[in-house]
Amino acid sequence: MYYIWGASIALLLGQAGAGFVWFTFPRFREGEFGGIFPYNPADLPSTGAAPEWVAAGRFHISNTQDGLLALYGVCTHLGCLPKWTPSNVRFECPCHGSKFTAYGNYIEGPAPRGLDRFKTTIVFLDGTTAETDTDGGPIPIPADKSIAEIRVDTGAKITGPSH
Ligand code: FES
Repeated sequence: MYYIWGASIALLLGQAGAGFVWFTFPRFREGEFGGIFPYNPADLPSTGAAPEWVAAGRFHISNTQDGLLALYGVCTHLGCLPKWTPSNVRFECPCHGSKFTAYGNYIEGPAPRGLDRFKTTIVFLDGTTAETDTDGGPIPIPADKSIAEIRVDTGAKITGPSH
C-alpha cells in the first residue's frame, strides 16, 4: 500500500510538472500563429503600395517609404479587423470607424492607439540582418541590398504607438 501511494504521488507530481512546463513555455511551429512566419520577399509590395494581408499570420505587411512593418491585423479598440481601403489610402475598421495609416499610426476613431506590430527580421543576401526596433518602427531597406528572407514573429507583439 505504501508503495502504491508513493507511486501515485510521484505520478501526480510528474504530470503537474509537465503541465507547468507545457503551459509556461508554449512552442509554436513555424507558420503557426504564435510562431515565426516566413514571408516570401518576392511577395513584398513595392514601396508605398497597398499593404498585403497575410491571413494565416493575421498581419499586414506594409512596405512604407521608411521601411517594412508587420502590422497585427486586429483593431486596438475592440478587436475587429481593419481593412486596407485603397480609395482613402488607410486602414479602416468596419466596427466603429477607427482609421490608421499605412504605418499603423492612429488617425481617428475610438481606438486607444495605433495598430500593434510584430517583431520582424530581414536577412539580406550579403548575410547581414535588420530587426524591428523596440518601438516597433519600420525597418529601413537599403536600396543597395537584396532581401533573402523575411521572418515575422507573431509571438513577439509590440504595442502600437499612442495618439
Ligand atoms: S473595433 Fe475597431 S473601431 Fe472598434
